[in-house]
Amino acid sequence: MLFNACGRFLQRVLSTQLVRTHSSVPQLQASVTSDQVFARESKYGAHNYHPLPVALSRAKGIYVWDVEGKRYYDFLSAYSACNQGHNHPRIVKAMQDQAEILTLTSRAFYNDVLGEYEEFITTMFGYDKVLPMNTGVEGGETACKLARKWGYNVKGVPKNQARIVFAEGNFWGRTLAAVSSSTDPDCYEGFGPYMPGFDIIPFNDLGALEKATQDPTVVAFMVEPIQGEAGVNVPNPGYIQGVREICNKHNVLFIADEVQTGLARTGKRLCVDHENVRPDMIILGKALSGGMYPVSAVLADDEVMLQIKPGEHGSTYGGNPLACKIAMAALTVLEDEKLAENAQHLGEIVRSELSQLDKSIIAGVRGKGLLNAIIIKETKAFDAWKVCLRLRDNGLLAKPTHGDIIRLAPPLTLTEEQLYECLDIIKKTINSFV
Ligand SMILES: Cc1ncc(COP(=O)(O)O)c(C=O)c1O
Repeated sequence: MLFNACGRFLQRVLSTQLVRTHSSVPQLQASVTSDQVFARESKYGAHNYHPLPVALSRAKGIYVWDVEGKRYYDFLSAYSACNQGHNHPRIVKAMQDQAEILTLTSRAFYNDVLGEYEEFITTMFGYDKVLPMNTGVEGGETACKLARKWGYNVKGVPKNQARIVFAEGNFWGRTLAAVSSSTDPDCYEGFGPYMPGFDIIPFNDLGALEKATQDPTVVAFMVEPIQGEAGVNVPNPGYIQGVREICNKHNVLFIADEVQTGLARTGKRLCVDHENVRPDMIILGKALSGGMYPVSAVLADDEVMLQIKPGEHGSTYGGNPLACKIAMAALTVLEDEKLAENAQHLGEIVRSELSQLDKSIIAGVRGKGLLNAIIIKETKAFDAWKVCLRLRDNGLLAKPTHGDIIRLAPPLTLTEEQLYECLDIIKKTINSFV
């Protein structure tokens, strides 16, 4: 009996493997339609995103094209990763050149590019050291680990009691640590138990920060200078300076999450530069590769960075020579093409033009540089998703951050003439709902 059952099981396994082996040769399709792209992703991919229905197959500069060949202005820039525009030729060239020489050694060995990059980026931003990682969330995780070590070794916090303060509405990714500091139920619900030692205070509230940091076990305050995912929440002028002063007063590290706001997006190299503030740690990601590759970094001075010793942190791909060359090219493009200045100039036009939109349906426009948002007055017939669908039909891609907020973040290589064309599309689309 048992023998027969085993035999049947084995037969089933073998036949499945045969089918698997047979069907594992992918059939290359000459071309696909948008509907085929949507259906295939839905069938074979996890449903952890809700993309706007548009299937892209090509991009250049400020434009993207769908599989049917329709061209769109990109007003998301892959969540501000493509600040330099898609496929920037200088970044592509750096990538291609290095890809033929040396891509990955791991940090088990030295390579001849990492040190060059480390010198380049620390000189550019004025910090003693950099710790290279891959994604933005790993940058956040790295900063939290550094802060805890500093807390124990330098501030003298008793073992396992370090606390890190975050602002309500923060977003720094989807790892368990990141969702543990989140106030968005979509991010954290169902993923407990959560990381201990995290406190949350309201954003843009210096009084709350003053109170929270009086606790001697608090080692750091981690904050986005403008909250991107929360809907482009711009704090009051003076907030970042106030954060710096309070952190100094209570011997707490100020960690600026500049993954989305940094690298020219808000009209300065870093968003904290608007208030001439130097945080203790800067987290960079996204545009650090201009959309070519996952590259992130944490910048800090020796007092913080040297708390981590060999074996205590790292990543197989972090600081690989390909990433380093791409990052140097991406940073050079931002500077050479004066993209911060362009973002600053065009951002003023965006806000002044869009603030003239019909007040019966638009609650406001806010932002800095080319990180802006339109806040709409949601009704049954009119919400951010519907506006984005119609913008798509009119040749411009943007994505809602919440039901009532549309973020506008084009590549920073946009020209004034192109911007006016885009504003025309946005105004006509929104007015078509009046
Ligand atoms: C401010 C901020 N920090 C961190 C992250 C996480 O970056 P990544 O998706 O590369 O992990 C994001 C992503 O949107 C972000 O906006």
